[in-house]
Amino acid sequence: MMDDSDILSEFDEMLLQGVFARVWRYLGESADSTSLVTKSRSHQELKNKLELAVGRTGVDVDTMLSDIDDYLEESVKTSHPHFMNPMWGGTNVASLAGEFITALTNTSMYTFELAPMATLIENEMIDTMLKLVGYNAGEGIFTTGGSNGNLLGLICARDRKFPDAQRVGLVGKQLVAFISEDAHYSTSMAANVLGIGLNNLISIPTDESGAMIPDELQEAIGAEKRAGNFPFCVIATAGTTVRGSVDPMVELAEICHQEKLWLHVDAAWGGATLLSPKTRSLLHGIDLADSVCWDPHKMMGIQLCCSVFLVKNSGTLRRVCVHTQKGHYLLLDSAETVDLGHMSLQCGRRVDALKLWLAWRAKGNEGWASLIERYFSLAEYLTSKVKEHPRLELVVEPSMTNVCIRYVGYGMNKSKEDSVTMGIRNELISSGKFMVSTSQIEGRPILRSVIANPRVNEKTIDELISSIVEIGGSLSSN
Ligand SMILES: Cc1ncc(COP(=O)(O)O)c(C=O)c1O
Repeated sequence: MMDDSDILSEFDEMLLQGVFARVWRYLGESADSTSLVTKSRSHQELKNKLELAVGRTGVDVDTMLSDIDDYLEESVKTSHPHFMNPMWGGTNVASLAGEFITALTNTSMYTFELAPMATLIENEMIDTMLKLVGYNAGEGIFTTGGSNGNLLGLICARDRKFPDAQRVGLVGKQLVAFISEDAHYSTSMAANVLGIGLNNLISIPTDESGAMIPDELQEAIGAEKRAGNFPFCVIATAGTTVRGSVDPMVELAEICHQEKLWLHVDAAWGGATLLSPKTRSLLHGIDLADSVCWDPHKMMGIQLCCSVFLVKNSGTLRRVCVHTQKGHYLLLDSAETVDLGHMSLQCGRRVDALKLWLAWRAKGNEGWASLIERYFSLAEYLTSKVKEHPRLELVVEPSMTNVCIRYVGYGMNKSKEDSVTMGIRNELISSGKFMVSTSQIEGRPILRSVIANPRVNEKTIDELISSIVEIGGSLSSN
């Protein structure tokens, strides 16, 4: 039985040895493309199978290891070559090592005193990413994800428009922000949290590629001003969630400059394209934005969570987080310049920079560039396979590595195509063969497969196409 006072007890040693042995086994099994990517059990089925209640007394180490075996067994194999569902996948082992060390050393990022080398590493990563964005005098902070990055963008924007709002509130001033109709839902969450009201987050129409139309933005800003409201921020997306489109940042920056609006770019997904000289032009104009969020836990494959928020002018974050000065029990005045706690919405904060730094050390800039280029070339390969197959429709020309597919066929009406497309997705998942996601474009379902897993290759893509076509064939004949 475990005794908390004995750090190196036999229990601990056996538990950790058992865990590390399972790490190798799990990584090996996940790489096997003939295994299932998911068991696809229902909620009830899984609940019935597992005994999860904690007891009055502790269990022995064998029971613990058997619990861990269950967990590994029931987990979706996100490193499996057929895992193409969200915008990340695979296991970056250097990053995994960083995650272990972060947990092992268990500290919090608020002060240099508590996280000395971690503070320097976070600064180094932020500086590296600021340079890639093209910010010369910026600053930044690690956050939990693009969602919180978008929230921080809006907070910084509000601070510039009404610096006093932090103290006195908005008192009768109706703030209005603008997003594209394809923006991620976290922008609504951010508007909700900030208290501007969801009706005051205006969706701007997109063109056929899914990019925001600048003239429509200009018109909407005019309408809001005429209504007596206060436009304060535009959120552009560099790599939308479904289509992967990039809003025209140069034109949007021009409008924001004239209208004195903050431009925040949600590059949670597309930020990684800055890592290759061959893809970085996709984000042309990002340096004109006032702030950017970028998720290394997406295309770069760093273990969740790993995300940065970057701002063009340093001093901004300390200003919006000024109330951290109240935390005299934690954040020392004398260390104000080095304690990152003064720049974060969080108090306790994980060391998320270490895993990114280790992965970057292992790969170098060139390693990142070739990973991103490989993803783009695989997305092109998948695109060409879709285009050349008479039963498949490429729903939108990809800008990133999102490939949006619909099953079509002779004599099928739209509603049949939609039900077959959804049926294919359901069958892929329930058979445990492939995980691709589904979404809607113009109200119709599509299969969205995303290339963001280093284990995906041409063979995987050929197998995906055959599976889609085979399932589609049998569903459409029913
Ligand atoms: C464009 C975009 N922005 C923001 C987010 C939210 O990011 P996170 O899950 O890191 O909060 C996502 C998630 O997929 C996204 O696609």
